Amino acid sequence: MKRYFIHTFGCQMNVNDSMRMGEVLGSLDYRPTPVAEEADLIILNTCSIREKAEDKMLSALGRYRTVKLARGTLLGVGGCVAQQEKEKLLKKVPYLDFVFGPDSIAKLPDIIGRVKGERERVVETAWVDSEEYVFPRADPETSRGKVTEFVTVMKGCDNVCSFCVVPHTRGREVSRPFPDVLTEVASLAQVGVREVTLIGQNVNSYQGGVSFAQLLLRCAEVPGIERVRFTTSHPHDLSDELIEAFRVQPKICPHFHLPVQSGSNPVLKRMRRDYTVAEYLERLGKLRAARPGIAMTTDIIVGFPGETEEDFALTIALTEQVRYDNQFSFIYSPRPKTGAALRENDWGPVPHEVKIERLERLQKLQRRISGEITQALVGQEVEVLVEGPSRYNPLKRFGRTAENRTVNFDGDAPAGAFVKVKVESATPNQLSGKQLEVLSPPTVMPPAELPQPPETCVVA
Ligand code: 5AD
Ligand code: SF4
Repeated sequence: MKRYFIHTFGCQMNVNDSMRMGEVLGSLDYRPTPVAEEADLIILNTCSIREKAEDKMLSALGRYRTVKLARGTLLGVGGCVAQQEKEKLLKKVPYLDFVFGPDSIAKLPDIIGRVKGERERVVETAWVDSEEYVFPRADPETSRGKVTEFVTVMKGCDNVCSFCVVPHTRGREVSRPFPDVLTEVASLAQVGVREVTLIGQNVNSYQGGVSFAQLLLRCAEVPGIERVRFTTSHPHDLSDELIEAFRVQPKICPHFHLPVQSGSNPVLKRMRRDYTVAEYLERLGKLRAARPGIAMTTDIIVGFPGETEEDFALTIALTEQVRYDNQFSFIYSPRPKTGAALRENDWGPVPHEVKIERLERLQKLQRRISGEITQALVGQEVEVLVEGPSRYNPLKRFGRTAENRTVNFDGDAPAGAFVKVKVESATPNQLSGKQLEVLSPPTVMPPAELPQPPETCVVA
């Protein structure tokens, strides 16, 4: 029996793609191994969103070269760096066997056959940019025993944000037809999944036969599904209809990840974000009115070309005004062929030390705000969907609130149960407490909770 190991970098789309790769490899009689040194096939599923992600994958490739030398392991690179670099990657990394883009996962049997049979070094990076694209359907059996799952609803991105490489690596937007999405959600519910997160690079411009709001509402009606989430969104597609869905359907979780990127209008304009801070705040205000208490999270880029201290002060002010539950903040990283990288010298690159100092200031502020929000929950009761044992202490249980806050607690409820937890302490990133009662048992008992065999070997 042959064994494979997949090292996944980047976003949830990549994690999902790695699952699909695992399924395709399963049909070739490959089985997953959690130990790269034992693998006959190693795939790096890569991310190119920032330079750091690319550097990480190059150093990982170096490590896997040793495995290849020791046991003749096949080595392939998939994902966004593969799509971006194509044959250049084979030239740069002489010991690499194959390179394949995100749309070529289904071609893995053919690719591996050519590499093994014809000793060919293969590059497969064609993408299918049309409604003919067939989204790989997840095998629900790989989700048995899981409580929460991700469902791909669209791929690609038609926006033109000047910092972003995604349109170059993932192509044009293609939406998955809504009956396919609903079938997949229903099949997941049947194996015990109670929460689904609909994913895509820009989900609220979904066009798979119904609006995105309607898609959420329909997913929420699938028997067995108690929570529906989604990520990620662009503020200019946040429709009133979507806001209304939050008002009428409590199963749509009260958490919205709405990347703002900057609190300064001139910076947003150079980023080609297509909204002003006032427009963003207007959408957010409507959302909060429709679903009071909704948790808001965002992405911020600091040190975008031409960002002045005044621009940055506006990002700080916006952070204080919105009081996000959490922020993911990044130092601007120029990406190949993007508008901002081409114009960086005209707009004025921000020195690295300045970027670092701004990032630290912003993260310190956000830690304080997150801490204040979670401290206010101490003493309260929250509803948690149990996902399994705590990562830090296997004697404790782990789950999330509907607002997506992580909770570690003393209790005995099995994965898939909804429980009431009394919050006893909090850090900016997590709540701790004790189970008070089981509100609803799992729909399907997990086969065996510990230890779980690795379905696919994903290393984030
Ligand atoms: N540099 C830094 N951060 C970036 N992001 C996207 N492109 C870049 C870049 N070139 C951030 C954005 C996006 C998140 C997924 O990654 O904030 O929302
Ligand atoms: Fe990284 Fe974007 Fe590709 Fe996801 S889609 S892996 S974030 S470059």
